[in-house]
This record gives sequence, structure tokens and C-alpha cells, in this order.
Amino acid sequence: MNDVNMLDTYKQAAAEAAVGAVESGMVVGLGTGSTAVHAIRALGRLLQEGQLTDIIAIATSEATAHEARAWQIPLSGLNQHPTVDVTIDGADEIDPALNLIKGLGGALLREKIVALASKQVIIVGDYTKRVGRLGERAPVPVEVIPFAQTPVAAYLKSLGARVIPRQHKGDLFQTDEGNIILDCYFEAISDAPALDQALRARSGVVEHGLFLGIATQAIVGGPEGLVYLQP
Ligand code: A5P
Repeated sequence: MNDVNMLDTYKQAAAEAAVGAVESGMVVGLGTGSTAVHAIRALGRLLQEGQLTDIIAIATSEATAHEARAWQIPLSGLNQHPTVDVTIDGADEIDPALNLIKGLGGALLREKIVALASKQVIIVGDYTKRVGRLGERAPVPVEVIPFAQTPVAAYLKSLGARVIPRQHKGDLFQTDEGNIILDCYFEAISDAPALDQALRARSGVVEHGLFLGIATQAIVGGPEGLVYLQP
């Protein structure tokens, strides 16, 4: 098995373990990305087999909604179901306190809204997502309204970031909400709460990919099996 397939096996094991937290009658937040998709499929299978019933799902992206529909998972929205029992989502980096960087899949805005509405937020991933300090490998994605791209990019540079506007097929990447993403590379983030505050202080920034104090558990797959982490 090649490395990518091996990592996918770890992702699948973590995601399927997380689905064990779902009970019949729950409102479930469905994350976005190559790990979260395994949770969607596992949930779909359990519903089809009748092992789970009366689930309402809240999708964190159009791609996730599409996958959920393929599995006939009933979808709703936060305006109808403002409290989510459990959300299962991936992450790009997970630090020892379960602070996260998310958004390399471009869905960070809805992901954060759904996570903040959730009683439990279970983060699933393969072992390569664990870092000693946020920003070691991944950029912090910052979602920005297109009108504000240039002044916000200058502001982000003033915070010490190398700023790369995200591209897709030769054009600027567009989020589900019609915004753009500026990927911000920091050398390793020494004070994530201060950066969180500085990012949210700027008009034109819609949201960013630092998820601090939001995860309630992480399940990480690797060569030694599953590791269960608490903040
Ligand atoms: C989507 O916007 C992201 O936050 C994903 O949750 C994150 O990028 C993890 O994705 P993978 O599971 O594909 O690595």
C-alpha cells in the first residue's frame, strides 16, 4: 500500500470510530474534507442498515451536502436546528491542547459556525496532523470578501504573514459564500489567541482557520492504531 492509501486507512479508522458517538435522534454536524467524508459514508451505511434512525445532519459545505444526499442522509440547517449534538470534522493541524488550523479545504466559515453550535466537536485525522505548535506546516486560511483583498492582504503582511491568495483552475478560489481565501504562512505561531484577535479585528476578514478551544475530542489514526485525545 502506498503512503497516500495508508494515510487514508488511518483517516477512515478515525472517522469510523468517531461515528460511534452518534446516537439515534441526534442532530449531527458533517465536516468537510478527505477524512470527514469517511464519517459521512459510515453514517450513511448505519442509517441504511437501520442501526441509526432519526438523524438530522447539518453540512459544512456544498461538497459535504452533495455526499450526504448520495447517502440519503436527511439534511437541515442551523436556522431549523440551531443546536448540534455532535460534529465530526477533519483538521489540517492539531496541537497538544486540541487547538486547530482548519480550512485547507476551503470550508472554514461554515465549519466554524457549525462547530460553535455543537455540544461535542470530534476532530478526526491521521497522525501527520499532530503538531507541537500551530503553523508549523499549514498556512492559516483567512476568508476575505473580494472587495477587501488588497488592503486586507497588506494588513496580514503587517502581522508577519507571507500571504498567498488561494487559486483554483487559474482563478481565485471562491468559497461557498462567494469569498476568497488568503493563505497566511507564519513561521510557527507563538501566540495563537493574540493572532485570533488580530485577525478578527480587521474589517473585510470574514473568518479565519484558527479553531481555538473548540474541539472537545480528537481521534487520530496511525501505525499504532487510534489515539484518543482530550483538550
Ligand atoms: C476543510 O475546509 C478543512 O477544514 C478540512 O477539515 C481540513 O482541511 C482537513 O481535510 P482533510 O481531512 O482532507 O485533510
